Amino acid sequence: MTEIRNIVILTGAGVSAESGIDTFRSAGGLWEQHRVEDVATPEAFARDPELVLRFYDMRRARIQEVQPNAAHQALARLDAEWKGGLLIITQNVDDLHERAGAGRLLHMHGEHLNAWCLACDGRHRWYGTLLDRPSCPTCGVPGQMRPDIVWFGEMPYRMNEIYAALNRADLFVSIGTSGAVYPAAGFVRDAREQGVRTLELNLEPSQGSHWFDEARHGPASEVVPEWVDELLRQQSG
Ligand code: OAD
Repeated sequence: MTEIRNIVILTGAGVSAESGIDTFRSAGGLWEQHRVEDVATPEAFARDPELVLRFYDMRRARIQEVQPNAAHQALARLDAEWKGGLLIITQNVDDLHERAGAGRLLHMHGEHLNAWCLACDGRHRWYGTLLDRPSCPTCGVPGQMRPDIVWFGEMPYRMNEIYAALNRADLFVSIGTSGAVYPAAGFVRDAREQGVRTLELNLEPSQGSHWFDEARHGPASEVVPEWVDELLRQQSG
């Protein structure tokens, strides 16, 4: 096996599940309780902003009640101790990776704790409600702030950086994601085409499980720390 130096990790809702944040596609998950087209599209926001803002206000409040789990902590440890290249690409819009201490991190689907002003394009850290249609702290225009979340039909963030990192990678690891939403679901194939080794860590086989060279199944709080320990042992050995 080629020596591993550059690692790209993709994380999804499964990493935060054991912190108490609902995943999207499990039984009782967020998309079983809400229709995506009612709460997670620009059209929904134009049609019924109150419904959309109320949904995201609840999600924003919820993530502030929970704590990072052993999977976030293990990835933060990997970030601190891995001497080679590393990028954690998260589809998650919570802040649990950074609260655990991860720094080499990119939020491709936006962040609950950011508000985006459609009038001036400014982003602001936001912990409270958006439902009362606040004015933008920068430009002062009222009623133009929306959650800084990438909705269906919108372009995920920082794709150039992501593909550049995948091009340099020796190992691509997908953790806690169902492989249902593109472009993230396609990263494993992009990686494979470049000859990058691929590993899936998930509770169960994902939709794209067959694309991975190796899969380890179990709760993220167990399989992620085990894998990180193994990798750091290899580095020091
Ligand atoms: P999903 O809900 O689609 O998938 C979560 C995955 O995590 C599933 O494969 C579960 O089996 C797995 N899982 C659940 N609990 C786990 C645990 N304790 N340990 C390990 N794995 C576990 O969530 P995502 O794949 O993240 O986009 O969804 C992708 C995107 O779809 C989200 O970013 C979101 C959503 O629409 C936006 O909101 C823009």
